Amino acid sequence: MSSSQCPIALCSMPIEPERDVMKLFNKLLGAIALSLSFSVAMAAGGLVPLERAPFKLNDQAALQNGAKIFVNHCLNCHGARSLRYNRLKDIGLTDDQIRESLLFTGQRVGDPMTIAMTPQDGTRWFGAAAPDLSVIARAKSTNAGPPGGDYIYTYMRTFYRDTTQPTGWNNLAFPNAGMPHVMWDHQGPREMTSRLIHRVERDGQTVWEQLTKVYDTEGYWTADVQVLNNYTGSGGQSFSFKALDPQAAAQYDRDMADLAAFMTWMGEPALLKRKQIGVWVLLFLGIFFVFAWRLNATYWKHVK
Ligand code: HEC
Repeated sequence: MSSSQCPIALCSMPIEPERDVMKLFNKLLGAIALSLSFSVAMAAGGLVPLERAPFKLNDQAALQNGAKIFVNHCLNCHGARSLRYNRLKDIGLTDDQIRESLLFTGQRVGDPMTIAMTPQDGTRWFGAAAPDLSVIARAKSTNAGPPGGDYIYTYMRTFYRDTTQPTGWNNLAFPNAGMPHVMWDHQGPREMTSRLIHRVERDGQTVWEQLTKVYDTEGYWTADVQVLNNYTGSGGQSFSFKALDPQAAAQYDRDMADLAAFMTWMGEPALLKRKQIGVWVLLFLGIFFVFAWRLNATYWKHVK
């Protein structure tokens, strides 16, 4: 289109529509690719890639175990205002079970999951308010990224003792988090090793160096520096944990998968039903398509 054909005044500026559109398109593609690569690899600000939480949302026993852990270990500080206790009947619990094992004194099954701690208390005690967790799993999942359950699973499994932090704990998925590792006694003692490989100046020469930092079970670290001669790889940082009670740590991992399942369900309790209905709808459409197709063929048979 030439500029003289353009009906509005703005368009009469000399522009090259095709190139501009292509530029915009390229920028858009770039932005999408960038956000995809970030969201798939890391949680915002995290130091480790998110691990896939191994759970099936239709596993009621897992969801019930997750609910128990959530109510007993997280509701002290966090609320889940959008969820009422009696909604837990959707994952197979009865009113009596909810009353006996999940309610605190004075609460009724129709109550929402609120807590006594105020955001002000949270800020005073931990330096940050403990957010309401009703939809945290959904908030942590981006459309293109990993399910939010993966963030919870990774977050809950990457705490390490760190005496330099006010709470005595630090976290790889959420560095310098204000939340202490509230389930440390379930996971058992662990050591954390961080390995950083980077290039440094030494006597006027750039060399590769490996910095290994080990945080012991009490949160004190020791560092070791090693020059890597003839190193041909690339730089980067990696982390590993050593569980001193592997059995407890393995059970803790299974529990955290259940907790991630529950918190994913909590973010969208209609999820299971939505998926079930979806299957029936697709099945119906599939069968309906065959009928429509045959009917169409019959109608048009004589019109030629
Ligand atoms: C002792 C109080 C306390 C308990 C108990 C607690 N948290 Fe937290 N949690 C906090 C505080 C405080 C923050 C805010 C941290 C910050 O922003 O630095 C937080 C933040 C979080 C976040 C948000 C992290 C982010 O990336 O923004 C998640 C998820 C979370 N907690 C999950 C849990 C789960 C799951 C449990 C139960 C196993 C739990 N918390 C138990 C205090 C607590």
